[in-house]
Order: sequence, then structure tokens, then C-alpha cells
Amino acid sequence: MAATLKLETPRQTFGGSVELTPYEKGAGLPVFIAPRDPMLKRDIGTALAWMAEHRDAIDALVIAAGGVVFRGFPFPDTAAFNRVVDPYPDVPYGYSGGATTRGNIAGRAFEATRAPPDFRLMLHQEMAYLPNWPTRLAFYCAHAPETGGETIIGDVRRFEKAIDPKFVQTVHERGVKYVRNFRSPDWIPPHPTLVPLHKTWQEAFFTDDPRKAEADCKDMGLDFEWTTNGSMSVIYAASGFTNHAVEGREVWFNHIASQTITDYNYGADRVALFREYYGDLTPWTYQTYFADGGKIPLEDVEALYEVLEDFTVAFPWRAGDVMLLDNIYSFHGRNAYTGTRDVQVALIG
Ligand SMILES: [Fe+2]
Repeated sequence: MAATLKLETPRQTFGGSVELTPYEKGAGLPVFIAPRDPMLKRDIGTALAWMAEHRDAIDALVIAAGGVVFRGFPFPDTAAFNRVVDPYPDVPYGYSGGATTRGNIAGRAFEATRAPPDFRLMLHQEMAYLPNWPTRLAFYCAHAPETGGETIIGDVRRFEKAIDPKFVQTVHERGVKYVRNFRSPDWIPPHPTLVPLHKTWQEAFFTDDPRKAEADCKDMGLDFEWTTNGSMSVIYAASGFTNHAVEGREVWFNHIASQTITDYNYGADRVALFREYYGDLTPWTYQTYFADGGKIPLEDVEALYEVLEDFTVAFPWRAGDVMLLDNIYSFHGRNAYTGTRDVQVALIG
């Protein structure tokens, strides 16, 4: 486990009704919280009351460890997940303008992603490409896949120490600009593999009204333009860093690794399809630059991948698990999988 994570205090705070187990293979990320008390195992009202009573300690542990997983609590369905999330604040614009295709299930619960099962979603911090983002994420496993499909996670604080400080300095000086394209529903990508990778602007803004999508962009502080094939590009320049809402310290917070389309994160076959069918004429789904418009050197992006690989943690899901993750101190992504996977997510403001 991480040398910095001292569990003595949380153990005293939580008392004997639960067991805390830092995930050894993740160097302490996440910490599993399992009930000992029989009532905590079988009665959701008792479990929610216990969580309310220990809210401050849970929140502190999420920050200290980067994330916790409630395992063995009586959370059988999405309704239970919504009750777990209910005391936490929502984000101002929800998932409007979000990158992945995900449907609302019920209440605050969304599908984690509709990305194809063979697609590995690489580690990222949620919505760092938008001016508003969740401080924390809650994940719920309703049904674990047959193989793979872990919600992979990674420690941003360890990552920051391991990457090239010269590149960190460059990002500080130049910032990061995201250009993301949402297609028109009337324009279908010419190869079926590309269809689920290119979201429509209706899906992105949860509306059929282009004026509403534009108004959302303006409210959120995003630039936009209507462009090739009736698509909409949204443009946002950010510093590439943010301050942790509770601890105040400045942290790496950007999508340089995850929103640059490369053979590594999209797969060489998919990149070849983008080249063949989109080329220079159709805007690609993501383009990430320095904020001054300069290209980010591929070797700098690839150097990040190596470090991310080193810090990737993949614990297997169990049905009923709820994970609370700090969105600034922890990355998340998704491994490829087989079988049926039902993992849900809720954004916490
Ligand atoms: Fe995500």
C-alpha cells in the first residue's frame, strides 16, 4: 500500500462495524469497505444511515486513498445506487457536452459508456475538457462482465511525480485546447466501426434543438462552430491543471493522453479507418492541441502512456459494488470485455 496512506485514523473513525482493506495490487487504491455488522449487510436503510453518520470519514478516505469501494453492502439495483448518491451534490450542467455516448438509466445513474466492448478506454479524469466537472464519481456494478471490463483506475499524484517535469512545465506555459466534433444524425460515418465512436450533437447535449445546444455551449463557456456534414465542433482552452476542491493543491487535469487519437489509445485499425474515411475533409472526433494552437509532439504524448500503464489498477467488479472516486486525484477508464456488462456512473459536484 502507499506509504502516505495511514489507515489508523480512519479505522478508529469507522469503528468495528466495517473492515477496511487497501487494494494491495493498487498500492492502496482503492480501499475496500466491507460490512461486518449483519444489519449493514442486509438492510439498506441501516447501510445508508451508517454512511450518513460516517460521511466525513468516507470523504476523507476518498481523498487520502483516491477512491473507495463499498463491497458486500445491500445495494441490489439502480434504485439503491441512486439512494447512495442522493446526499451528494450534482454537477451544474450534468453530462451536457460530454465525450462518451451514455444514456440515462434512472435518476442520477447513467450508463458508464457505450464504447464497443473490444475498445479499451484509457485512463482519464472525467470532463477535464469542459469548464465544469465532477469533483467525484460514483460507479455502480449492476452486472459484472464475463471477462475483463474492469473500471481501471490510476493514482494521479503518483503519475505526476513520474512524468517528465519539462513537459509539465510546457503544459503550464502553453495550456491545452480541445476541439471535439459531434456529427449530425443525418450523416452516418462511412464505416460501421466509426459509427459508435462518433457521437451526435443531439446525444451530446440531450436535445434535438440546435439552439438549445448552442445555448448550453454559451452557458458553459464553450466555443462552437457548425461545420462539415452538419456537425458541430466545440472548442475549449484550459490551463491543463486545476486546484483540488478540498486540499487546494494544483494537480494535472487534462486529456492530453486520452483525447489525442493515436494507435495506442484508439488502436491502429481504427486510426487507419479515420485516415481513410475522414482524412483531412471530415473533422475527427477529438483533436487536442496546446492552447496556442501548436501541435503536442507525439513522443510527449507517448511518454505519458508509459507512465499511465505503470499505474493502471484493475480490480474485478462484483455485482453490488459501489466505488467513490476522487476525480482530481484518480484517473479512470475501462478495460475491454466479453459478456454482458452493466456498470453505471453518477457525477458528483
Ligand atoms: Fe470517464
